[in-house]
Amino acid sequence: MNTWGVRLSPFSRNTLLLCSLIVITSGVVWMVLGWLVDAQDYSDPLHTLRHRMLVLHGIVAYVLVWMAGRLSNLHQQGNWRAHRNRRNGLLLTAVLALLAVSGLCLYYPPHEDWRETISQLHQGLGIALALLLPLHLLAARALRRISSRPDNAR
Ligand code: HEM
Ligand code: HEM
Repeated sequence: MNTWGVRLSPFSRNTLLLCSLIVITSGVVWMVLGWLVDAQDYSDPLHTLRHRMLVLHGIVAYVLVWMAGRLSNLHQQGNWRAHRNRRNGLLLTAVLALLAVSGLCLYYPPHEDWRETISQLHQGLGIALALLLPLHLLAARALRRISSRPDNAR
């Protein structure tokens, strides 16, 4: 850690962004296919594609949770202590945690009647993640620009 907090290594950054991209895209494609597919017609190839999207989603989502967990010590706590990107980072962390909990509840709903509500909540949180992550990256870029100014060099 330097005075400006903790940066991600290029490998962590790229893996994290790739996993996020796959999880967001597979979730959104599953939603869009839901509008296009005929729910009664199981011979529709889009049904199979939709199912495969969800399998891909479930698997990569857990890699993403693991990657975010790896960040917690240095990236999250380090930048939190250095007061960098706090508000957006905290929101991003909370959304990821709620996605992980609601995703688990989709596997094991506390009550079968609640599944639809949990699914809607999970999808809303998913869209929130898709918006918050680019904001987090923009904020990171702005911070980097400030820290590279000659008057901030140490
Ligand atoms: C309290 C929580 C968090 C705080 C305070 C925080 C803070 C920051 C800061 C200050 C930067 C800029 C670092 C730099 O380039 O100098 C940054 C970048 C970044 N953060 Fe976070 N963050 C938090 C949570 C997260 C989470 C949960 C994720 C994962 C989904 C994440 C992913 C990233 C990524 C991918 C970058 C860009 C790194 C780069 O461009 O090199 N952050 N964060
Ligand atoms: C840390 C992030 C995430 C985790 C851990 C996660 C986890 C899960 C899990 C475990 C499922 C159930 C899979 C199944 O039934 O086979 C699921 C379903 C789903 N997820 Fe995610 N997810 C995450 C992020 C997202 C994002 C970013 C989106 C959308 C942009 C999204 C959209 C969906 C959708 C549409 C479903 C299907 C809902 C249903 O079956 O009713 N998820 N997710």
